[in-house]
Amino acid sequence: MNDDYLWSGFGLVSALAARVVGRTPVGVSGVSIDTRSLQPGDLFFAIRGENSDGHDFVATAFEKGAAAAVVDESHADALRGGGALYVVDDVLASMENLGRAARARSAGAIIAVTGSVGKTGTKEALRAVLSAAGETHASAASYNNHWGVPLTLSRLPRTARFGVVEIGMNHAGEIVPLVGMARPNVAIITTIAPVHLEHFASIDAIAEAKAEIFTGLEAGGAAIINRDIPQYDLLLRRAQASRAARVLTFGEHSEADARLVEVAGSAEGSHVTALLLGEKLYYRLGAPGRHIAMNSLAVLLAAQAVGVDPRAAARALGAFVAPVGRGQRVRLRVNDGHATLIDESYNANPTSMRAALALLGETGVEAGGRRFAVLGDMLELGPENARLHRELNDCVAGNHVDAVFAAGPLMKNLYDALPPHLRGAWAETSAELQPAVIEAIADGDVVMVKGSNGSRMGPIVAALKQHFAHDDGEAAGGH
Ligand SMILES: Nc1ncnc2c1ncn2[C@@H]1O[C@H](COP(=O)(O)OP(=O)(O)O)[C@@H](O)[C@H]1O
Ligand SMILES: [Mg+2]
Repeated sequence: MNDDYLWSGFGLVSALAARVVGRTPVGVSGVSIDTRSLQPGDLFFAIRGENSDGHDFVATAFEKGAAAAVVDESHADALRGGGALYVVDDVLASMENLGRAARARSAGAIIAVTGSVGKTGTKEALRAVLSAAGETHASAASYNNHWGVPLTLSRLPRTARFGVVEIGMNHAGEIVPLVGMARPNVAIITTIAPVHLEHFASIDAIAEAKAEIFTGLEAGGAAIINRDIPQYDLLLRRAQASRAARVLTFGEHSEADARLVEVAGSAEGSHVTALLLGEKLYYRLGAPGRHIAMNSLAVLLAAQAVGVDPRAAARALGAFVAPVGRGQRVRLRVNDGHATLIDESYNANPTSMRAALALLGETGVEAGGRRFAVLGDMLELGPENARLHRELNDCVAGNHVDAVFAAGPLMKNLYDALPPHLRGAWAETSAELQPAVIEAIADGDVVMVKGSNGSRMGPIVAALKQHFAHDDGEAAGGH
């Protein structure tokens, strides 16, 4: 076996339960399910998605240098001759098998992260902290679903000391099989919030579904939960009923194991004072916002649970910057001065919307500058969606917002509820809203853009960056 390979060609035969057509490769150096990002030497899984079938891209995969492809029996004959094929009954199931095999051979510590918001940010912060201590593999982007989790695991190098796996869900029962593949030593639930409410009867039902992450914990593992939320007791009971040897808590609560004492914000980030298991820590965070500081406490607890010195972990957090679309700051050159763009366009729900508005409120403006909130619809909130939009009203008022620019039929509920002097503009779509936003910005202003992915606020950010010269903030991680 060649240690330079992620998987040896013969190792794959048993891990995938496959028969090989063509010449078995010596090994593969990566795993891919998308030919647009495929690297030479990758193993390509021909996964069937909602809109396309990976079997249609096997030829492209080989053109781009794939070492082999995993295909199902029904396509084996037609694809014969293009390159090495691992033929299986079910391609997705074989990728799950490979994920399980990766987990089984790993001697590293695995950390699983779920929660209603903050999964990707927490995962990226863990990546930053653990990478400073040893070889770390973490999920790409937000790959946290039925294909994202096995893909992440199948890419776990046998030498990795740490693995970080983001796990998401839209329905009850979805986390159980995913965490069963990951078998984490540490499981984090960032927080519980009304996200995907349309598939759940109550917030407690969401908490129950998130608590499924504890079913996969390895014996002796640690469960990390938020001490400040109403669902704390429920999560605690579920954690105690699992194989977790320890339950660790974080929050502002006086009994939290990792306790937030103080956050002082600045444009570049914040300074956090925390008590970690009784020890005082003072550290910088490259991404601003109280919610990010809160997530960082979970990161420090997890780092400690896997043997990383908390002081070193806290130092590594200081070097970490907000991922694209999640609080990244861009200085726009406007007239002779600057305006600040806060890009929160990645996604939104009431909890993250409030956090982002609080962040806007904490951001200082220059003399004469104003705070603008550019908001798109929050999707997937279920029958209460109009109310959940309208109720942002108090949060706008409480955070010194000077004007709201709103896009979409749902945000109309907030817009109409605002006092007239806070109404910047409303439009049906983000594209129609864009000119009014560009028109409004003057030097000294701070502009925060946020909405669900489906409400397409990202393009407004892109348009602002195109319209105004800018010095881009640094980006880390994907979506
Ligand atoms: N603990 C938190 N409370 C409120 N909002 C948060 C929290 N953590 C992150 N957010 C915000 O939620 C949004 C999504 O963050 P992200 O890390 O991508 O979450 P996820 O992967 O769970 O979708 C971002 O705008 C982020 O700033
Ligand atoms: Mg995510």
